[in-house]
Amino acid sequence: MKYIIAPSILTVQKSDIVASIKEIENCGARWIHFDVMDGKFVPATTFDIDEIRSLLSQTKVFKDVHLMINNPRSMVKAYIDAGANNVTFHFEACKDYIEVSAIIDMIHQYGAKAGLSIKPGSDINAILPFLSKLDLVLVMSVEPGKGGQKFIDKSLKKINLLYKYKTKNKLNNLLIEVDGGINDKTLQSCVKKGANVLVVGSYLFNHPDFADRFKKIND
Ligand code: DX5
Ligand code: ZN
Repeated sequence: MKYIIAPSILTVQKSDIVASIKEIENCGARWIHFDVMDGKFVPATTFDIDEIRSLLSQTKVFKDVHLMINNPRSMVKAYIDAGANNVTFHFEACKDYIEVSAIIDMIHQYGAKAGLSIKPGSDINAILPFLSKLDLVLVMSVEPGKGGQKFIDKSLKKINLLYKYKTKNKLNNLLIEVDGGINDKTLQSCVKKGANVLVVGSYLFNHPDFADRFKKIND
């Protein structure tokens, strides 16, 4: 398989999430993406730690938790204890490079994979020093905070720059994930530039037949 699809349940109504998780599993998805928003780093709020614990316990599929929260350092252990397999936090939510590095180490120490995400307006060069110790780098291809937005084309350049750095430095296991505005077309453009994990929300869930769309884009 050339890439992994990580369906995001962000746009699913709360009462339907458990059923959607089962549906995702039944289609053979290998990952599920959970968006955590705190109403501070981004305006919206999604799940608190108790809700996440209950949702993560519903599935054995790899659980990719995307923290759009301030002060991620204070919360990473709680999310790992709650069942996250990968924890991605935001570069912009950290006060300095020392903190970014400390959080990556902390995630590893508690036994999860570590991801670092960058917003569309931030300079991609700023996160290159961390790539060798990360499992995943997440390029936000929309402004974080809500589903259903249009893919920002300049993200493709960022993906390509990361891919070139990864190749040059032989970081063969580093995953390059893209999140926001992914559909059948933008997915292909991202994969061509070197992305290998694609978060897909509204394209899959704002559609009557999830399974049909999943099959269409699952490689
Ligand atoms: C946005 C979230 C995404 C969101 C993507 O801040 O991080 O994971 O669910 O939704 P779509 O695929 O609709 O852009
Ligand atoms: Zn996300």
